[in-house]
Amino acid sequence: MLSNILAGALLLLGAAQPTLGAKPSPGCGKAPKIVTAAAASPPGLTITSGGARRQYFVKLPANYDNTHPYRLIFAMHPVGGSGQQVSQGAGGYYNLPNLINDTVGAIYVAPTGTQGGLGVGWWNNGGQDITLVKDIIKEVEDDLCIDQNLRFSTGFSHGGAMSFILACALGKELRAVAVLSGSPQISGQCPGGTEPVAWYSQHGTRDQVLNIAGGRQMRDRFVKNNGCAAKEAKEPARGEAHIKTVYECNKDYPTTFVAFDGDHTPSPRDPGASSTFSDKFTWDFFKQFT
Ligand SMILES: *[C@@H]1O[C@H](CO)[C@@H](O)[C@H](O)[C@H]1NC(C)=O
Repeated sequence: MLSNILAGALLLLGAAQPTLGAKPSPGCGKAPKIVTAAAASPPGLTITSGGARRQYFVKLPANYDNTHPYRLIFAMHPVGGSGQQVSQGAGGYYNLPNLINDTVGAIYVAPTGTQGGLGVGWWNNGGQDITLVKDIIKEVEDDLCIDQNLRFSTGFSHGGAMSFILACALGKELRAVAVLSGSPQISGQCPGGTEPVAWYSQHGTRDQVLNIAGGRQMRDRFVKNNGCAAKEAKEPARGEAHIKTVYECNKDYPTTFVAFDGDHTPSPRDPGASSTFSDKFTWDFFKQFT
Protein backbone atom coordinates (compact mmCIF):
# COMPACT_ATOMS: atom_id res chain seq x y z
CA MET A 1 0.00 0.00 0.00
CA LEU A 2 2.75 2.44 1.03
CA SER A 3 4.69 1.57 -2.08
CA ASN A 4 1.56 2.27 -4.16
CA ILE A 5 1.24 5.67 -2.53
CA LEU A 6 4.90 6.42 -3.15
CA ALA A 7 4.65 5.26 -6.74
CA GLY A 8 1.58 7.46 -7.19
CA ALA A 9 3.38 10.47 -5.71
CA LEU A 10 6.36 9.91 -7.99
CA LEU A 11 4.08 9.76 -11.01
CA LEU A 12 2.43 13.00 -9.94
CA LEU A 13 5.82 14.66 -9.59
CA GLY A 14 6.75 13.40 -13.02
CA ALA A 15 3.44 14.74 -14.37
CA ALA A 16 4.24 13.19 -17.73
CA GLN A 17 1.12 11.02 -17.66
CA PRO A 18 -2.45 11.88 -16.79
CA THR A 19 -2.87 10.18 -13.42
CA LEU A 20 -5.52 10.45 -10.74
CA GLY A 21 -4.13 7.73 -8.45
CA ALA A 22 -5.76 4.37 -7.85
CA LYS A 23 -9.22 4.28 -6.26
CA PRO A 24 -9.75 0.62 -5.33
CA SER A 25 -13.34 -0.63 -5.53
CA PRO A 26 -15.18 -2.34 -2.62
CA GLY A 27 -14.47 -5.74 -4.24
CA CYS A 28 -10.73 -5.44 -3.60
CA GLY A 29 -9.51 -8.08 -1.17
CA LYS A 30 -12.69 -10.18 -1.48
CA ALA A 31 -13.28 -13.53 -3.12
CA PRO A 32 -15.69 -12.88 -6.05
CA LYS A 33 -19.20 -14.26 -5.53
CA ILE A 34 -20.92 -13.18 -8.73
CA VAL A 35 -18.30 -12.68 -11.42
CA THR A 36 -16.30 -15.82 -11.97
CA ALA A 37 -14.54 -17.22 -15.03
CA ALA A 38 -17.92 -18.66 -16.12
CA ALA A 39 -19.21 -15.11 -16.76
CA ALA A 40 -17.16 -15.04 -19.97
CA SER A 41 -19.20 -17.80 -21.62
CA PRO A 42 -22.87 -18.04 -22.66
CA PRO A 43 -25.30 -17.35 -21.12
CA GLY A 44 -23.14 -14.80 -19.24
CA LEU A 45 -24.68 -13.06 -16.24
CA THR A 46 -28.11 -11.55 -15.70
CA ILE A 47 -28.92 -8.43 -13.73
CA THR A 48 -32.23 -6.76 -12.96
CA SER A 49 -31.94 -3.15 -14.09
CA GLY A 50 -34.76 -0.63 -14.47
CA GLY A 51 -37.18 -3.48 -13.79
CA ALA A 52 -35.91 -5.59 -16.71
CA ARG A 53 -33.73 -8.69 -16.87
CA ARG A 54 -30.56 -7.76 -18.74
CA GLN A 55 -27.52 -9.76 -19.83
CA TYR A 56 -23.79 -9.12 -19.70
CA PHE A 57 -20.53 -10.99 -20.17
CA VAL A 58 -17.32 -10.45 -18.20
CA LYS A 59 -13.82 -11.56 -19.04
CA LEU A 60 -11.34 -11.68 -16.17
CA PRO A 61 -7.58 -11.41 -16.67
CA ALA A 62 -5.57 -14.61 -16.40
CA ASN A 63 -4.71 -15.25 -12.73
CA TYR A 64 -7.18 -12.63 -11.46
CA ASP A 65 -5.68 -11.10 -8.29
CA ASN A 66 -8.21 -9.54 -5.90
CA THR A 67 -5.60 -7.12 -4.54
CA HIS A 68 -4.84 -5.60 -7.97
CA PRO A 69 -7.15 -2.68 -8.94
CA TYR A 70 -7.76 -3.41 -12.62
CA ARG A 71 -8.98 -1.28 -15.47
CA LEU A 72 -12.69 -1.81 -16.28
CA ILE A 73 -13.38 -1.74 -20.03
CA PHE A 74 -16.90 -1.79 -21.48
CA ALA A 75 -17.11 -3.17 -25.02
CA MET A 76 -20.43 -2.12 -26.56
CA HIS A 77 -21.78 -4.07 -29.55
CA PRO A 78 -23.09 -2.60 -32.81
CA VAL A 79 -26.77 -2.80 -33.76
CA GLY A 80 -27.92 -6.34 -34.44
CA GLY A 81 -25.18 -7.69 -32.18
CA SER A 82 -25.10 -8.71 -28.53
CA GLY A 83 -22.79 -9.03 -25.59
CA GLN A 84 -22.19 -12.58 -26.73
CA GLN A 85 -21.28 -11.53 -30.27
CA VAL A 86 -18.80 -8.85 -29.18
CA SER A 87 -17.19 -10.95 -26.44
CA GLN A 88 -16.68 -14.34 -28.06
CA GLY A 89 -13.95 -15.54 -30.39
CA ALA A 90 -10.36 -14.61 -31.08
CA GLY A 91 -10.95 -10.88 -31.66
CA GLY A 92 -13.51 -10.51 -28.87
CA TYR A 93 -13.83 -7.26 -26.91
CA TYR A 94 -12.50 -5.37 -29.95
CA ASN A 95 -9.29 -7.41 -29.71
CA LEU A 96 -8.10 -5.49 -26.65
CA PRO A 97 -7.36 -8.64 -24.58
CA ASN A 98 -4.75 -9.56 -27.20
CA LEU A 99 -2.95 -6.25 -26.62
CA ILE A 100 -3.23 -5.89 -22.84
CA ASN A 101 -0.72 -8.10 -21.01
CA ASP A 102 -1.42 -9.84 -17.72
CA THR A 103 0.86 -7.53 -15.76
CA VAL A 104 -1.37 -4.57 -16.60
CA GLY A 105 -4.54 -6.66 -16.88
CA ALA A 106 -8.10 -5.49 -17.44
CA ILE A 107 -11.63 -6.63 -16.75
CA TYR A 108 -13.81 -6.57 -19.86
CA VAL A 109 -17.58 -6.19 -19.81
CA ALA A 110 -19.91 -6.72 -22.76
CA PRO A 111 -23.59 -6.07 -22.04
CA THR A 112 -26.45 -6.75 -24.46
CA GLY A 113 -28.73 -3.93 -25.63
CA THR A 114 -32.48 -4.11 -26.18
CA GLN A 115 -34.66 -4.80 -29.20
CA GLY A 116 -35.45 -1.73 -31.30
CA GLY A 117 -36.43 -0.85 -34.83
CA LEU A 118 -33.22 -2.03 -36.49
CA GLY A 119 -32.41 -4.86 -34.09
CA VAL A 120 -30.78 -5.22 -30.70
CA GLY A 121 -28.98 -2.00 -29.94
CA TRP A 122 -28.42 0.87 -27.54
CA TRP A 123 -31.77 2.62 -27.97
CA ASN A 124 -31.48 3.85 -24.39
CA ASN A 125 -35.21 4.47 -24.08
CA GLY A 126 -35.86 6.56 -20.99
CA GLY A 127 -32.14 6.35 -20.21
CA GLN A 128 -32.44 2.60 -19.50
CA ASP A 129 -29.04 1.73 -20.98
CA ILE A 130 -27.26 4.37 -18.90
CA THR A 131 -28.99 2.87 -15.86
CA LEU A 132 -27.86 -0.59 -16.96
CA VAL A 133 -24.22 0.47 -17.17
CA LYS A 134 -24.40 2.15 -13.75
CA ASP A 135 -25.96 -0.99 -12.26
CA ILE A 136 -23.31 -3.23 -13.84
CA ILE A 137 -20.52 -0.96 -12.57
CA LYS A 138 -21.95 -1.27 -9.05
CA GLU A 139 -22.38 -5.05 -9.21
CA VAL A 140 -18.97 -5.70 -10.73
CA GLU A 141 -17.08 -3.27 -8.49
CA ASP A 142 -18.67 -4.67 -5.33
CA ASP A 143 -17.47 -8.10 -6.42
CA LEU A 144 -14.13 -7.47 -8.14
CA CYS A 145 -11.06 -5.31 -7.61
CA ILE A 146 -11.32 -2.38 -10.02
CA ASP A 147 -9.58 0.98 -10.09
CA GLN A 148 -12.59 3.31 -10.04
CA ASN A 149 -10.46 5.98 -11.69
CA LEU A 150 -9.85 3.70 -14.65
CA ARG A 151 -13.20 2.94 -16.23
CA PHE A 152 -13.43 2.96 -20.03
CA SER A 153 -15.95 2.35 -22.77
CA THR A 154 -15.46 1.54 -26.43
CA GLY A 155 -17.64 0.34 -29.25
CA PHE A 156 -18.34 0.46 -32.95
CA SER A 157 -21.33 2.15 -34.58
CA HIS A 158 -24.27 1.89 -32.14
CA GLY A 159 -21.68 0.82 -29.55
CA GLY A 160 -19.76 4.03 -30.31
CA ALA A 161 -22.93 6.06 -30.01
CA MET A 162 -23.55 4.49 -26.59
CA SER A 163 -19.97 5.15 -25.48
CA PHE A 164 -20.52 8.81 -26.39
CA ILE A 165 -23.75 8.91 -24.38
CA LEU A 166 -21.94 7.30 -21.44
CA ALA A 167 -19.26 10.01 -21.62
CA CYS A 168 -22.07 12.60 -21.52
CA ALA A 169 -24.00 10.97 -18.68
CA LEU A 170 -21.23 9.58 -16.47
CA GLY A 171 -18.71 12.40 -16.96
CA LYS A 172 -15.72 11.96 -14.68
CA GLU A 173 -16.96 8.53 -13.57
CA LEU A 174 -15.41 7.40 -16.87
CA ARG A 175 -11.72 7.95 -17.50
CA ALA A 176 -11.84 7.73 -21.28
CA VAL A 177 -13.84 6.48 -24.24
CA ALA A 178 -12.90 5.21 -27.69
CA VAL A 179 -15.73 5.85 -30.15
CA LEU A 180 -15.39 3.91 -33.41
CA SER A 181 -17.62 5.37 -36.14
CA GLY A 182 -20.39 6.41 -33.77
CA SER A 183 -23.23 8.91 -33.89
CA PRO A 184 -24.38 11.69 -31.55
CA GLN A 185 -28.09 10.91 -32.01
CA ILE A 186 -28.99 7.24 -32.07
CA SER A 187 -28.69 6.50 -28.35
CA GLY A 188 -30.66 9.57 -27.27
CA GLN A 189 -29.60 13.12 -26.57
CA CYS A 190 -26.31 13.75 -24.79
CA PRO A 191 -27.50 14.04 -21.17
CA GLY A 192 -25.34 16.28 -18.99
CA GLY A 193 -22.53 16.44 -21.46
CA THR A 194 -20.51 19.22 -19.86
CA GLU A 195 -17.91 17.28 -17.87
CA PRO A 196 -14.53 16.41 -19.33
CA VAL A 197 -13.82 12.81 -20.35
CA ALA A 198 -10.63 11.83 -22.16
CA TRP A 199 -11.65 11.24 -25.76
CA TYR A 200 -10.47 9.07 -28.65
CA SER A 201 -12.58 8.69 -31.74
CA GLN A 202 -12.15 7.58 -35.32
CA HIS A 203 -14.42 7.93 -38.33
CA GLY A 204 -14.39 7.14 -42.05
CA THR A 205 -14.58 10.08 -44.45
CA ARG A 206 -16.89 8.04 -46.72
CA ASP A 207 -19.11 6.52 -44.02
CA GLN A 208 -22.44 5.78 -45.69
CA VAL A 209 -24.19 4.56 -42.54
CA LEU A 210 -23.28 7.19 -39.93
CA ASN A 211 -21.92 10.29 -41.62
CA ILE A 212 -18.61 11.72 -40.44
CA ALA A 213 -20.42 14.99 -39.71
CA GLY A 214 -21.80 13.26 -36.60
CA GLY A 215 -18.31 12.05 -35.73
CA ARG A 216 -17.00 15.61 -35.86
CA GLN A 217 -19.91 16.82 -33.75
CA MET A 218 -19.26 14.31 -30.93
CA ARG A 219 -15.53 15.05 -31.01
CA ASP A 220 -16.08 18.81 -30.88
CA ARG A 221 -18.20 18.54 -27.76
CA PHE A 222 -15.33 16.88 -25.90
CA VAL A 223 -12.71 19.14 -27.48
CA LYS A 224 -14.64 21.88 -25.71
CA ASN A 225 -15.29 19.98 -22.45
CA ASN A 226 -11.63 18.94 -22.23
CA GLY A 227 -10.34 22.49 -22.53
CA CYS A 228 -8.53 21.85 -25.81
CA ALA A 229 -7.16 24.58 -28.01
CA ALA A 230 -8.92 24.86 -31.35
CA LYS A 231 -7.09 22.97 -34.07
CA GLU A 232 -7.95 21.92 -37.59
CA ALA A 233 -8.41 18.14 -37.82
CA LYS A 234 -7.30 17.28 -41.32
CA GLU A 235 -9.03 14.43 -43.13
CA PRO A 236 -7.37 12.24 -45.77
CA ALA A 237 -8.18 12.44 -49.45
CA ARG A 238 -9.13 9.31 -51.39
CA GLY A 239 -6.36 6.71 -51.22
CA GLU A 240 -4.44 8.40 -48.40
CA ALA A 241 -3.57 6.92 -45.01
CA HIS A 242 -5.43 7.93 -41.84
CA ILE A 243 -4.69 11.31 -40.26
CA LYS A 244 -4.44 11.52 -36.47
CA THR A 245 -5.05 14.83 -34.72
CA VAL A 246 -3.86 15.14 -31.13
CA TYR A 247 -5.34 18.21 -29.45
CA GLU A 248 -3.65 20.32 -26.76
CA CYS A 249 -5.97 19.99 -23.77
CA ASN A 250 -6.17 19.96 -19.99
CA LYS A 251 -3.48 17.35 -19.28
CA ASP A 252 -5.85 14.95 -17.51
CA TYR A 253 -8.17 14.84 -20.52
CA PRO A 254 -6.23 14.00 -23.68
CA THR A 255 -8.27 14.20 -26.86
CA THR A 256 -7.44 12.50 -30.17
CA PHE A 257 -9.31 12.16 -33.46
CA VAL A 258 -8.48 9.89 -36.37
CA ALA A 259 -10.03 10.37 -39.79
CA PHE A 260 -9.58 7.56 -42.28
CA ASP A 261 -10.44 7.17 -45.95
CA GLY A 262 -13.15 4.56 -45.76
CA ASP A 263 -16.72 3.51 -45.09
CA HIS A 264 -18.49 2.22 -41.95
CA THR A 265 -16.13 -0.32 -40.42
CA PRO A 266 -14.69 -1.23 -37.00
CA SER A 267 -11.40 -2.30 -38.59
CA PRO A 268 -10.15 0.22 -41.15
CA ARG A 269 -6.75 -0.37 -42.69
CA ASP A 270 -4.32 2.03 -44.25
CA PRO A 271 -3.37 1.43 -47.88
CA GLY A 272 -0.97 -1.53 -48.01
CA ALA A 273 -1.44 -2.43 -44.32
CA SER A 274 -2.31 -6.02 -43.42
CA SER A 275 -4.17 -5.19 -40.22
CA THR A 276 -6.30 -2.47 -38.71
CA PHE A 277 -5.12 0.34 -36.42
CA SER A 278 -8.35 0.46 -34.35
CA ASP A 279 -7.32 -1.88 -31.55
CA LYS A 280 -3.78 -0.50 -31.31
CA PHE A 281 -4.90 3.14 -31.26
CA THR A 282 -7.56 2.38 -28.66
CA TRP A 283 -5.09 0.69 -26.33
CA ASP A 284 -2.36 3.30 -26.99
CA PHE A 285 -4.92 5.84 -25.83
CA PHE A 286 -6.26 3.92 -22.80
CA LYS A 287 -2.88 2.79 -21.50
CA GLN A 288 -1.58 6.32 -20.86
CA PHE A 289 -3.92 6.59 -17.85
CA THR A 290 -2.48 5.18 -14.66
C1 LIG B 1 2.86 -4.84 -20.14
O1 LIG B 1 2.25 -3.71 -20.79
C2 LIG B 1 2.68 -2.47 -20.27
C3 LIG B 1 1.83 -1.38 -20.91
O2 LIG B 1 1.65 -1.60 -22.26
C4 LIG B 1 4.17 -2.31 -20.50
O3 LIG B 1 4.60 -1.08 -19.98
C5 LIG B 1 4.90 -3.44 -19.83
O4 LIG B 1 6.27 -3.38 -20.14
C6 LIG B 1 4.36 -4.80 -20.27
N1 LIG B 1 4.92 -5.86 -19.44
C7 LIG B 1 5.33 -7.01 -19.94
C8 LIG B 1 5.87 -7.99 -18.96
O5 LIG B 1 5.28 -7.26 -21.14
